[in-house]
Amino acid sequence: MQKIYVTILLIGLLINFNACKPRQTKVFHIGFSQCTNRDVWRETMNREMQVAASLYPDVKLTILNADGITKKQEIQIRQLLNAGVDLLIISPNESDLITPIAEEAFNAHIPTIIIDRKINSDNYTAYIGANNYNIGKKVADYLGNLFKDRREILEIRGLDASSPGHDRHRGFMDGLRQYPNLIVAKSIEGEWEQDRAGELAKPILKEQSFDIVFGHNDVMTLAAQQVTPANKVDDMFFVGVDALPTLGMEKVNEGILQASFLYPTGGDKAIELALNILSDQPYDKNNELASSVIDAGNVKMIKLQQQQVHHHQETINRQISRIVVQAQDFNDQRTLLHVTLISLFLLVVVAIWLVYYFVRITRKNKELAEKNDAIEKQRKQLEEKNEQILKMNEKVEEATQAKFTFFTNISHEIRTPLTLIQAPVKTMMEQVSQLNLPSSLNNSLHLIQRNTDRLLRMVNQLMDFRKVELGKAGLSISKVNVVAECEGIFQSFSPLAQQKNINFKFEKDESRQDVWVDVDKIDKVLFNLLSNAFKFTPNDGAIVIRIQSNQQTNVSIEVSDSGPGIPKDKQTDVFEPFFQQNEHRSMGTGMGLSLAKSFMDLHGGKLELSKSDAQGSIFKMVIPKGKDHFKPEQFIPIKPESKRLDYAAGSFSEKQEALIRDESHKEHAILVVEDDADLREYLINLLNDFFYVKSAENGKLALDLIEMEHPDIIVTDLMMPVMDGIEMTKRLKSELDTCHIPLIMLTAKSSPEQKIEGIETGADAY
Ligand code: FRU
Repeated sequence: MQKIYVTILLIGLLINFNACKPRQTKVFHIGFSQCTNRDVWRETMNREMQVAASLYPDVKLTILNADGITKKQEIQIRQLLNAGVDLLIISPNESDLITPIAEEAFNAHIPTIIIDRKINSDNYTAYIGANNYNIGKKVADYLGNLFKDRREILEIRGLDASSPGHDRHRGFMDGLRQYPNLIVAKSIEGEWEQDRAGELAKPILKEQSFDIVFGHNDVMTLAAQQVTPANKVDDMFFVGVDALPTLGMEKVNEGILQASFLYPTGGDKAIELALNILSDQPYDKNNELASSVIDAGNVKMIKLQQQQVHHHQETINRQISRIVVQAQDFNDQRTLLHVTLISLFLLVVVAIWLVYYFVRITRKNKELAEKNDAIEKQRKQLEEKNEQILKMNEKVEEATQAKFTFFTNISHEIRTPLTLIQAPVKTMMEQVSQLNLPSSLNNSLHLIQRNTDRLLRMVNQLMDFRKVELGKAGLSISKVNVVAECEGIFQSFSPLAQQKNINFKFEKDESRQDVWVDVDKIDKVLFNLLSNAFKFTPNDGAIVIRIQSNQQTNVSIEVSDSGPGIPKDKQTDVFEPFFQQNEHRSMGTGMGLSLAKSFMDLHGGKLELSKSDAQGSIFKMVIPKGKDHFKPEQFIPIKPESKRLDYAAGSFSEKQEALIRDESHKEHAILVVEDDADLREYLINLLNDFFYVKSAENGKLALDLIEMEHPDIIVTDLMMPVMDGIEMTKRLKSELDTCHIPLIMLTAKSSPEQKIEGIETGADAY
């Protein structure tokens, strides 16, 4: 469809463009070589040519005037030929000399018109002019008819070398043969020039008497008339040739000339002839112009006729001018019409185009609207589905959180009983070894201890994971000799290594390497890496801890094992939460490595799997050196030594033994404040050997008791109903009576922050 419109448009444009174009007619260049321009006759001829040529818009006329100099005319003719004229008109000054160049033009197939004067050859296209021989003869006849008695004639010839001069003389002389009474007494060559004729005739007319003066043209005859002595002039008969209305005819009318023979200029006719030749119209080679005598008998009438002709000519000229103007108007209107037609055509095409596009766009819009509706429907459905998914997600998230909260709460609840199992088992194991009881009992107790330790670790891990997840895992930074710390952990794994016959090594490049870390967390990371290593390394394998200091920047701890390695496709997931290296769920919680990595991240450090293949795996911890990357609140505040009871110095059992040996210590009274009945019971039993033990279920009851009898030392739980340990401690430490009583805060909440919180209330130990 579109292609059709484009084609129509192009055709339309082409038609209109062609219609609009000016008619591509050939412009004819006509060159006219004029022999001279010194007289009115030549001016008249030139003007006639110009007027005639101006009527044809496709004709260009160039006139070159040779000033009566033959050589100059020859050069000018060549100039016109070089300019590429389509047709040449020559009025030759001298016949002989101009013939060769005129023939050259003719032979070069340039149509050549000879006017007025002839060349000495027939090699031209056409001739136009009056018959000069006949004119000469007519003059003789005219005079012969007029004068029957003897008359003497002065003949003033034109230029002998020009054909009219030559022909008129010949015709005149031939004509006079019939009239023997008419005698040419003198013949001079006036060369067509007024001055020259006057100059030559003057002395002759003075000395000699003539009845008749025949000049070959009017200007020469008039010149002779003017130089004729006054006593002779009135008796003489002056006859000339040309009879131009403005000159010869006028002079005949005035009686200065007695007669003149019409010699038509023929300029306009020459142009018409030229156009006929150029446009391949039929034409005559010889175009003779008529001549007749003008004398006193007809001059008036001819003048009248001339005036009428002149009048008609003027009317015609006016009409021609009007036609020219109208033709111009017509052209303008035609152009306007074409422009209008083109515009109209374009408008129609554009309109069709617009309608077509409008229809197309409307159709497309409809399609789009339908598609939009469908998309909108789909979008709504998707939105609804998304909302459902979001809701389900929320529910899943809620359920997950609830699960985590549940697990965390359970862990909390499990931790206290586990601590209660762990502590008496330890005591029992010590007692079993002292009392030499059967080793099977000892083994059972070891089994219990190992499993409670394991359970406690898992519970702690779960709680740590939760803290990390909630962004509540803080750091308690202190300066730690990491080599010693690693060595301690290495020692604790050594029995297991022995048991599995694992080549377990600890490699270090320095014995002391101080770093600023949360020692508890770094321990957990290393512990986790080692647990994994031992879990996956078969009996008789090898495990190495390698600690290295890397210049100023960091300390790295590598744990390498000779286990089966982690499959390639799972290596990127090892640090994801709940990652299980194999399908056995019993292998752990799956949180260990994820938690370890979080702990290293908290330190600004790294935990990475440096290598894992069939030869084993290498995990690498990177701890940055220095402490500037920690915030001030992440450091553990250092309390004055005097205020702390460092029970860690020396093992608990050593102290216990000392106390058993020294009964005198039983003089001191201890108050146990604990809401958990089992733990309270356990503590009472434990302390009963060394102290007078009192107990209370919560802080409030304890305060009541203390008011009655002051204990020497107080052991209290932190979290209790009615009044917690913190509140109770605050009150005791603010009373003058009780502030001196040493107080040990006892709780499962073991984070440094909680310890600090407890100590800040005034507790002496935590
Ligand atoms: C004009 C003229 C005429 C004469 C003609 C002959 O230059 O002298 O007077 O008739 O030339 O060629």
